Amino acid sequence: MATRSRRPAPQPRRILVLHGPNLNLVGKREPAVYGNETLADIEARLGELADELGVKVETFQSNSEGALVDRIQSARGQMDGILINPAAYTHTSIALRDALLATDLPVVEVHLSNVHHREEFRNRSLIAPVAAGQILGFGGESYLLGLRALVALLRKPLSNRR
Ligand code: DQA
Repeated sequence: MATRSRRPAPQPRRILVLHGPNLNLVGKREPAVYGNETLADIEARLGELADELGVKVETFQSNSEGALVDRIQSARGQMDGILINPAAYTHTSIALRDALLATDLPVVEVHLSNVHHREEFRNRSLIAPVAAGQILGFGGESYLLGLRALVALLRKPLSNRR
């Protein structure tokens, strides 16, 4: 008779998805740049993809740098990875960068627009050097590609993630 394994089923990976300032207005805000999809539409698509990939996604949007720092800090030891669109804080926030580094979690940075086609001040990301990678310019699809990239990274052994 076959013996049943008592090993518990692996827990699904937990991904924190963060949206920075003004992304609550996506869909209404500068549609020529950011498209017509709302944040709720993007999050619904992320939820479907998360089910398909067998991961759990938690989302958080804030217009406040401190609230984003607090949410990032609370991910330490609680989540497995962070997908972030830091929005305008991409270009200015040492606080977000330090908070991400302090979590010790893999980070993927995403943007709806291709920031390199836009104003020069958007060319620099303070977050990119602490992220595993960046995906940008594909509208809401950037988040889906970013989630796939982060999950693929988490499936690699720790020693082989760079
Ligand atoms: C953005 C690009 C940023 O430069 C800008 O400040 C945003 C949105 C994007 O998703 O394309 O708010 O992060």
